[in-house]
Amino acid sequence: MKKKNLYFLLIILLIINVSCKENSQNNLGKNTTNSIDSKVAELLSKMTLEEKIGQMNQYNGFWDVTGPKPSDGDAAKKYEHLKKGYVGSMLNVRGVKEVRAVQKIAVEETRLGIPLIIGFDVIHGYETLSPIPLAEAASWDLEAIKKSAQVAAKEAAAAGINWTFAPMVDISRDARWGRVMEGAGEDPYLGSKIATARVKGFQGDDLSSPETIAACAKHWAGYGFAEAGRDYNTVDVGTSTLNNIVFPPFKAAAEAGVKTFMNSFNELNGIPATGNSYLQRDILKDKWNYDGFVVSDWGSMNEMIAHGYAKDKKQAAELSIIAGSDMDMESYAYVDELANLVREGKVKESLIDDAVKRILKVKFELGLFDDPYKYCNEAIEKEVTGSQEIQEAVLDMAKKSIVLLKNENNLLPLKKEGQRIALIGALASDKNSPLGSWRIAAKDSTAVSVLEGLQKYSGNTITYSKGADLTLGKTEFAIELQINTTDKSGFTEAIQTAKNADVVVMVLGEHGFHTGEARSRADLGLPGVQQDLLEAIYKVNKNIVLVLNNGRPLTITWADAHVPAIVEAWQLGTQSGHAIAQVLYGDYNPSGKLPMTFPRSVGQIPIYYNYKNTGRPVLPAPNEVFWSHFTDESNTPLYPFGYGLSYTSFMYSNLIVNKVSEENVDVTFTLKNTGKVTGKEVVQLYIRDVLANVTRPVKELKGFEIVELKPNQEKTIHFNLTKDALGFFDNAGEFVLEPGEFKVFVGGSSQTVLESGFVMEAKNE
Ligand code: BGC
Repeated sequence: MKKKNLYFLLIILLIINVSCKENSQNNLGKNTTNSIDSKVAELLSKMTLEEKIGQMNQYNGFWDVTGPKPSDGDAAKKYEHLKKGYVGSMLNVRGVKEVRAVQKIAVEETRLGIPLIIGFDVIHGYETLSPIPLAEAASWDLEAIKKSAQVAAKEAAAAGINWTFAPMVDISRDARWGRVMEGAGEDPYLGSKIATARVKGFQGDDLSSPETIAACAKHWAGYGFAEAGRDYNTVDVGTSTLNNIVFPPFKAAAEAGVKTFMNSFNELNGIPATGNSYLQRDILKDKWNYDGFVVSDWGSMNEMIAHGYAKDKKQAAELSIIAGSDMDMESYAYVDELANLVREGKVKESLIDDAVKRILKVKFELGLFDDPYKYCNEAIEKEVTGSQEIQEAVLDMAKKSIVLLKNENNLLPLKKEGQRIALIGALASDKNSPLGSWRIAAKDSTAVSVLEGLQKYSGNTITYSKGADLTLGKTEFAIELQINTTDKSGFTEAIQTAKNADVVVMVLGEHGFHTGEARSRADLGLPGVQQDLLEAIYKVNKNIVLVLNNGRPLTITWADAHVPAIVEAWQLGTQSGHAIAQVLYGDYNPSGKLPMTFPRSVGQIPIYYNYKNTGRPVLPAPNEVFWSHFTDESNTPLYPFGYGLSYTSFMYSNLIVNKVSEENVDVTFTLKNTGKVTGKEVVQLYIRDVLANVTRPVKELKGFEIVELKPNQEKTIHFNLTKDALGFFDNAGEFVLEPGEFKVFVGGSSQTVLESGFVMEAKNE
């Protein structure tokens, strides 16, 4: 090109660039010397009431639906609202092309050109999937969990997304609830650490980086305590449990700087969370001084009508804004009703201003005003999606998530050569189920199956026989799963395959869509004909390695009593089969520990390690019934919280508890690898506050560390307990530390092996 032409072209490009920017940003966010707060204030002062309310309105994209379709919303209305600037955010818009298309309307066609914040359920990965969050929690590996969130953010950001609806930090003690797969299990201490790791992973140190996205702590609050574990059901939780069990992971997320919260579908003690001022204003925004914004869950404003709390959509909008819900996800309540409510004097405009400020602040922090298309680069999308770095991170996470539940006679690890292996179960060859439940952006059937993994890592002869289908018909996010409960026609072939094998690997459990939202179960056994298949195979070959794929604790009592080796492999995501094969062959020594108690039977639920002692904890005399127990079931779990084996063994000794000063206690002990191979142990420290003004649990996790030791190697482990660990929230919600006796326990699970204690004297005031 001639120099003159080049010059001409440059001028043109410059003009286009300047005018585009002016048009798109209206000079917003350009004054870099201003703080974000003043930029927000300046912008707010230019906005009409309708434009402000628009920022509080979030629509689902035009493609995917993750909740019931609203009756009064349609694509045409969404387009019209987008063009008018009545939409502040969209969800389920995916891929650079789609994101750019909606962002272009917001930025270039509306009066103020305010960019959209694009939300998506990046729960355990975007297109490349890591293990389900409950599985990741089983690693207890905070660095790996952070890395997993970090690569998920990178992949999502490269596809145009700048806000994830994760982490879910709901504590749950009820495995019937399908959404336990999405959380970190039953413990508030572990849950808080994981919440922090995930928030930091998603958001990084710099939210304006094109590789990080805003996170969302959900569901505020109590959602994991749905009665009977039935999703969306009533929640009635006492003060002590709320303060000490439900709230802490949310507080940890807020302290880690999580940019947004999502409220929950449930009512909490009679008040739906979306209309709950105690939760959203008193605790979150006032007591915790939280300055991010709260998005309502899908349609939850309108659902207050069904709850019997709002008479119509207008009142739902009024109750929601007064209670502190800043953004409306798919209820069309704010966009349709708020302006009139303000004009009628029912809602103060200052409430709207506060909500809009919170939302705009996050948009500024993301850097969307500097470049609304910063997440929209096709070349980066192509380069990052499914990259080597992401595949390696999800494989690493998957291996660390596996929990060895049983290993009699060292059946595991399998030999790499010369073993005839029968591989049985529909899940063994399934490339779709390991992707789990939240995988909206993943391509179907892109996981590595166990069959593929086993074939890759050994020279053994592997004979695969399905045995029976697990599901029938469609397996989709929004559709009820059909389980095969009758067809056993494949049993004969599977039995024959098992007869001819040295070892039988059976992959059984739940399909990826059998857990997750709206997937509550009343029976926690192996679904369909799988239990019958297991027992039929056991009759001809007892050398069974049972690999479980599931999204929640199961009542596998029969398997525990009969099958010699059991591996908890959850739903492990894209690299599932590779991770499982590496563990089965001993290339990777498992170190995962259960983040949730496994019950013996459903009747024990809720069952959790940090229970209260009750007034009648023990058998008073032989044959007397007057103690807290079942007549037909033990009180103990099948596998306790914190439990998990290794291919090596560990010994704990020399527990010493030293009071350095009041409110500061040193705990040391020795850990030794007593087995034959190098292994990692998650050492766990628990306390019990023996006497208090509000009764305390029999055990509470207060510290853990992953320790790797070679055979015969030993190490002194050190923990320090301070006020944060020793105190608790009283029923007025105040954090207190009461003097008196404390017990200290250490071990490799909540069924600890060493015990000591100390007394904390009352301070002389
Ligand atoms: C879920 C949320 C999710 C939202 C958007 C709701 O049904 O409860 O956790 O983020 O849909 O997909």
